[in-house]
Amino acid sequence: MDRYAVLGNPVSHSLSPRIHRMFAEQTGEPISYVALEPPRDEFRPFVEALHEQGYAGMNVTLPFKQDAWALAEKRSKRAERAGAVNTLIRTKSGYRGDNTDGAGLLADLTRNLGVELAGSHILLLGAGGAARGALQPLLASDPASLHVANRTAAKAEALANDFSDLGAISGSGLDGPFPQRRYDIIINGTAASIQGEVPTLPDDILNDGGVCYDLMYASEGETAFVRWGRAQGASISSDGLGMLVEQAAESFYLWRDIRPGTRNVLKALRAEISG
Ligand code: ATR
Repeated sequence: MDRYAVLGNPVSHSLSPRIHRMFAEQTGEPISYVALEPPRDEFRPFVEALHEQGYAGMNVTLPFKQDAWALAEKRSKRAERAGAVNTLIRTKSGYRGDNTDGAGLLADLTRNLGVELAGSHILLLGAGGAARGALQPLLASDPASLHVANRTAAKAEALANDFSDLGAISGSGLDGPFPQRRYDIIINGTAASIQGEVPTLPDDILNDGGVCYDLMYASEGETAFVRWGRAQGASISSDGLGMLVEQAAESFYLWRDIRPGTRNVLKALRAEISG
């Protein structure tokens, strides 16, 4: 039985153990998966102890994704770009790091929701870790343009600058200036949802039939941004639960070399959240 865990603080709300146990059952892989809560300033010794105990891999969530990046012996290109590691894979002497969040976002947007990214004008809200992690996969999908808008304009501008080698990207505050008057896809990567808030945007900024996507999900019901998207007339307004399941599937694949099916797992979790 190979052992895996998700590391977060707090971690009790994490759906990862449920998701990976469903994957294990479905694929017949002999794994165990638990949620563990390292003290905030003791990530490294905690992980070293897990290595001694034989842990084969870990998922890493808030607030440890940068600590995991620093701890990893080697990092994948996508983890390097994201500046964060959400998946640790055992080596002889430690763990190597990867980041499956971006792949999870793309899989949910394109495969599950059928959203066409190529040729679209995308607006990404936020300039923290979540927004940064979305940029490389979004730009790789060949959008017509990508604009990052953030409460603190300078952070959006700096982020756009960091990724300018990957495509047409710009940055501003939430009040603009916006290179496009209207956007086909608006993705919320801010933490505003946690406070039940939605960043204030100009009226009519979503194109007719446009798509809204929140990188976060609510443990019950909808996020404020998903509600906002529906009020704007979005054809699809989705939270990030599908992204969570897809990033988990990608981690499972890295560990076990088997790609689990995600549809029924997402269905089961969705049924619970909508009560
Ligand atoms: P994460 O790693 O989850 O992205 P973070 O790095 O703390 O978390 O970033 C949080 C993001 O949400 C930032 O873009 C932040 O804006 P600032 O850079 O101006 O701080 C944004 N944010 C948080 N609360 C917000 C709110 N109420 N309205 C708009 N943006 C908000």
